[in-house]
Amino acid sequence: MKVAVLGAAGGIGQALSLLLKTQLPAGSELALYDVAPVVPGVAVDLSHIPTDVAVTGHGKDDLADALTGCDIVLIPAGVPRKPGMDRSDLFNINAGIVKNLIEAVADNCPKACVGVITNPVNTTVAIAAETLKAKGVYDKNKLFGVTTLDVIRAETFVANLKGLKTTDVHVPVIGGHSGTTILPLLSQVEGVSFSDEEVASLTTRIQNAGTEVVEAKAGGGSATLSMGQAAARFCLSLVAAMKGEAVVEYTYVQVDDSEDAAFFAHPVRLGPNGVEEILPYGDLSDFEENAKNAMLEGLRGDIKLGVEFVTA
Ligand code: NAD
Ligand code: LMR
Repeated sequence: MKVAVLGAAGGIGQALSLLLKTQLPAGSELALYDVAPVVPGVAVDLSHIPTDVAVTGHGKDDLADALTGCDIVLIPAGVPRKPGMDRSDLFNINAGIVKNLIEAVADNCPKACVGVITNPVNTTVAIAAETLKAKGVYDKNKLFGVTTLDVIRAETFVANLKGLKTTDVHVPVIGGHSGTTILPLLSQVEGVSFSDEEVASLTTRIQNAGTEVVEAKAGGGSATLSMGQAAARFCLSLVAAMKGEAVVEYTYVQVDDSEDAAFFAHPVRLGPNGVEEILPYGDLSDFEENAKNAMLEGLRGDIKLGVEFVTA
């Protein structure tokens, strides 16, 4: 199993790489790529941890080597938010970064599963899809927007509110990854009931959790450690699925003939070739149905922006 992290010297990249160095199966290879000159040092640093995962560092002229032979590529490269910014404000810088990196993926490991973390995810995943299409190698089953952070946040907040063990709480989160496009389905949390006030306040907190971190870091970036954990969980689920285990994760994928949007976070059964089956997200409460209908136009606009960035 070879996994590449593109943007590996950044806040997410380093946390994620540490978790993968300690948790990927023995015999795996972890390739770290970044344009920042510190990346070979990050690789040397990690290589001193005694696990049977080989780590290689790749600087800005060494992207092809990092990608060749990869099974999974994770992309947290790009700029994060500062207080007062929306994720969409990152489009101008991050759109081009994602497009260039995905072109290299298409050239060097077109069959890899790709997890896009770079914001705005609602748009960068569409950019990735169009870029892969332009290169003639798009496989919709192998492209994912990583929305696992929304799920782990929702589980943490619900467990804390209700005094439950976090491992016992499972919260579906569908839609996209910004503001109101993040839609937790609290009506589907097994064994837990919420008042209308709790539903409203928890939903808002889950939707604004990224901003909560951005404001607390006061100009020093956005979520990195919790995102590292979320991306590691997603990657390890993909690894388990590639080895034949039955795994379901919520993730932002292309959904054909969707009444919602061309890309939408669903529960997805993963398999050896990425998406095995996109599962229905089930019945929504009136609150959730209204929230979904109110955000769809915005999500579709985010996707259109990404498509046009590549095709216009
Ligand atoms: P960071 O600034 O700490 O790290 C970003 C890294 O990307 C830096 O090391 C930088 O050198 C590198 N980079 C920039 N351009 C590059 C390129 N062309 N090729 C390779 N590397 C490049 O930022 P961060 O906190 O790690 O966040 C990274 C991105 O992840 C941001 O866009 C942020 O908004 C996003 N993010 C997404 C989620 C999510 O849930 N999907 C959560 C948190 C953050
Ligand atoms: C998050 O949800 O923490 C990330 O998308 C980063 C951000 O800008 O909020």
